[in-house]
Amino acid sequence: MTALFTPLTIHGVTARNRLWVAPMCQYSAVDGVPQEWHHTHLAQFASGGAGVVVAEATAVSAEGRISPEDVGIWNDAQAEAWAPIVEAIRTRGAVPGIQLAHAGRKASTWSPFVEQRGTVPAADGGWTTVAPSAVAFEGFDEPRALDAAGIDAVVADFAAAARRAVTAGFEVLEIHAAHGYLLHQFLSPLSNLRDDEYGGSLENRARLLLRITGAVRDAAPDAALFVRFSASDWADGGWNVDDTAVVARWAAEHGADFFDISSGGLVAHQKIEVAPGYQVGFAAHIRREAGVPVSAVGLITDADQAERVLVDGDADAVMAGREWLRDPHFALRASAELGADIDYWPAQYVRARPRA
Ligand SMILES: Cc1cc2nc3c(=O)[nH]c(=O)nc-3n(C[C@H](O)[C@H](O)[C@H](O)COP(=O)(O)O)c2cc1C
Repeated sequence: MTALFTPLTIHGVTARNRLWVAPMCQYSAVDGVPQEWHHTHLAQFASGGAGVVVAEATAVSAEGRISPEDVGIWNDAQAEAWAPIVEAIRTRGAVPGIQLAHAGRKASTWSPFVEQRGTVPAADGGWTTVAPSAVAFEGFDEPRALDAAGIDAVVADFAAAARRAVTAGFEVLEIHAAHGYLLHQFLSPLSNLRDDEYGGSLENRARLLLRITGAVRDAAPDAALFVRFSASDWADGGWNVDDTAVVARWAAEHGADFFDISSGGLVAHQKIEVAPGYQVGFAAHIRREAGVPVSAVGLITDADQAERVLVDGDADAVMAGREWLRDPHFALRASAELGADIDYWPAQYVRARPRA
């Protein structure tokens, strides 16, 4: 058997293989409620053989949405709308996952489907954003710095969202601490200028993430708990891969099981060096230094490349985003290309299975 098609069990949750769907915002919700689009979008990847399907950044509160069109899980109507989508993923053999998110100072932005950029004004359905400090992301409105009560409310929102996600049937919960959103804003010294117990030292900047990790763990004891990190701000004086390894270790001690390693998104002046597999080195570093299981993501687009990431010991699983959009049956195709003998080609599609 290939490495890519070897099952992986995390906190009692077994994925049938190690080729997973990364969270991808669809900007297509109504009042935070996922729609028929989300159902077909996510179910197709499970039909296509994915091991885990992680639903997009899902807001834990209304003010935590990236755009007014983001999905949420801050109320029961949203959770009830997620349930049949979760069931569609599960009955097709994939593990259903959800990314729990708060966009912080990068909230209340226009969806990419319209011309406008920057912050959506209140008159158009926008809202005042919150952040560790009153420091704007370049081109966006200045956020309000969270006070102690506001921080406690964010922790409570993540825990309540985790409970609803489990009720809806999700088996993987991923805390979004990457891409310049609220938890990353707390981690990075470029966006966190606080002088209280949530700012300054690494320990202080990590405090909110660790509180949330513990609260989500308590709220969802049986779920596999992932954290997505940006391993670098790609900017001078920013958050880096060594910080990520240290905080990943702490997060594991607070109940996280698995780490999804991405990068960037904190500042507009970042200088990302993009190339095939460009974030794999970060994943490998964190896996080695923190001694935790990780997934690699970012321009991993074919079966041989994904297999090599695992065989080289750089990661325990591979996530992909855009390749699944190009081919929702990426895993079925990859199994054929690698000669992996899987028993989950949908019966309806078996006539398309390449012969050995
Ligand atoms: C349409 C789209 C939406 C995305 N939305 C999210 C998201 O909701 N949460 C997140 O952490 N990353 C998001 N990303 C980043 C992907 O999860 C992934 O890390 C990135 O696309 C790199 O992987 P790829 O080269 O395989 O696409 C998104 C990417 C795309 C293309």
